[in-house]
Amino acid sequence: MAVPVSPIAAMGESDDLGPTEFPLGLTFDDVLLIPRRSSIRSRGDVSTATPLTRRITLNIPIVSANMDTVTESAMAIALARAGGIGIIHRFNLPDRQAAEVAKVKRAESYVVESPYTIGTGATVAEARAAMRVWDTGGLLVMDGGALVGILTERDLLFEDDAQRPVAEVMTPRAQLIVAPPNTSVDEAKAILHRHKIEKLPLLDEQGKLHGVITSKDIVQRQQHPLATKDRKGRLRVGAAVGVRSGYMARAEALLKAGVDVIVVDIAHGHSENAIDATRTLRRQLGAAVEIIAGNVATAEGVEDLAEAGADAVKVGVGPGSICITRIVTGFGVPQLSAIIECAAAGQRLGVPIIADGGIRASGDLVKALAAGAQTVMIGSLLAGTTESPGMTIMRRGRKYKVSRGMASLAANISRQGVESGDKPPEEVDWQAVVAEGVEAVVPYRGDVGEMLSQMVGGLRSGLSYAGARTIPELQANARFVRITQAGVKESGPHDVELT
Ligand code: XMP
Repeated sequence: MAVPVSPIAAMGESDDLGPTEFPLGLTFDDVLLIPRRSSIRSRGDVSTATPLTRRITLNIPIVSANMDTVTESAMAIALARAGGIGIIHRFNLPDRQAAEVAKVKRAESYVVESPYTIGTGATVAEARAAMRVWDTGGLLVMDGGALVGILTERDLLFEDDAQRPVAEVMTPRAQLIVAPPNTSVDEAKAILHRHKIEKLPLLDEQGKLHGVITSKDIVQRQQHPLATKDRKGRLRVGAAVGVRSGYMARAEALLKAGVDVIVVDIAHGHSENAIDATRTLRRQLGAAVEIIAGNVATAEGVEDLAEAGADAVKVGVGPGSICITRIVTGFGVPQLSAIIECAAAGQRLGVPIIADGGIRASGDLVKALAAGAQTVMIGSLLAGTTESPGMTIMRRGRKYKVSRGMASLAANISRQGVESGDKPPEEVDWQAVVAEGVEAVVPYRGDVGEMLSQMVGGLRSGLSYAGARTIPELQANARFVRITQAGVKESGPHDVELT
């Protein structure tokens, strides 16, 4: 890759650099990629697969940010179905965060290993309440350890007597179609089709329940062939922890809920706090989970976090849309230069790099990957979609959603106490908060699936312009050209009136 900038590396260890010899830091708008001869005939001929961490691969290089206006279970489910992954934010109590992880892990699987159940003595009212809370359309009715029937929404639809025992309205065991525990998904599909049923309980010879295969899961699998899944067919999900007291208990709760990736989330990731937390998590959790650490903006940062046990490193100090770290502290590195330097270190160490912040359109995604990142993390762009937490709001006749920096004043105040699980303070010391982020609104952009398909479509076109069939080929073929303000102006629509 012929990029004439590795500004931070240029500083080296030398003390001799005078104030006029500052290295140059560039970001996305400072460069364009030079088109290369291409043998790609269709955008379908390229692969967007890429490593997220040492052991997890994604089919699209997009990670949703662990911000409380971006990622809870709905966003994480949508991202994983599309082939990326979501990172559940940590700005709530550990059990609530773990519950969000559990929702993603339950969203689909080859076999539902612990299906929702209800006792035979329960009433119709109790069954309706349970279905509402668990957001499920069916319950297995159990008598002790034995399956005695299945209750679905259809059984309850016209039932007027809320006090009736479920045993009287369920489909009883004698009428149930069941299969042995080793039934394959294809065999299950044939049985479900033949009997026109939606749930297939798996029972062994002693009648013990081993799980359920559902038609819904099979349909999901067909609809989302690129989905990011674990070996049990469950969607993969990540979740963030901090580095202050209580982070280990939070990580353990997340692990129990089935989390695949833990993100050690701190603004200055090249700090002893972050390095120690990464090392401690690695030591205590072993290989049970992948660890991403960050954020850093230098090769040394990548090296120190990788040495502490990180399986991927997040890069970005100050590029985010809602960040004011650079204004408040004077620190940061323009994102393209930071990626180039960090990616070289990541490559040497076999640690993937996640370019975090500042992605405004698919062109930035392509540039970030071309500069060496394996994936990008996106905040505000995704905050505008249906699946982000929070409501849409109307302003001057247009729809918006909120995106707020996790170091903004509002986020600082609302998270006091929740990181450690302590009771929030009754009075907030406003003077003690130095905000490094802002609260903003972003245009409502519809469903995340549509937005991701535009982003990935842009990436596929980008690969084709580079003559690359894969992201590593894009990185190998990438040649950047620096542009001027005139070039930036020329790159957008100009001299026309937009309709
Ligand atoms: P985008 O540009 O995608 O960036 O919205 C999302 C990333 O911004 C970071 N982030 C912050 N950075 N102050 C900061 O300096 C903040 O309050 C803040 N909140 C989020 C974070 O890395 C996120 O993924």
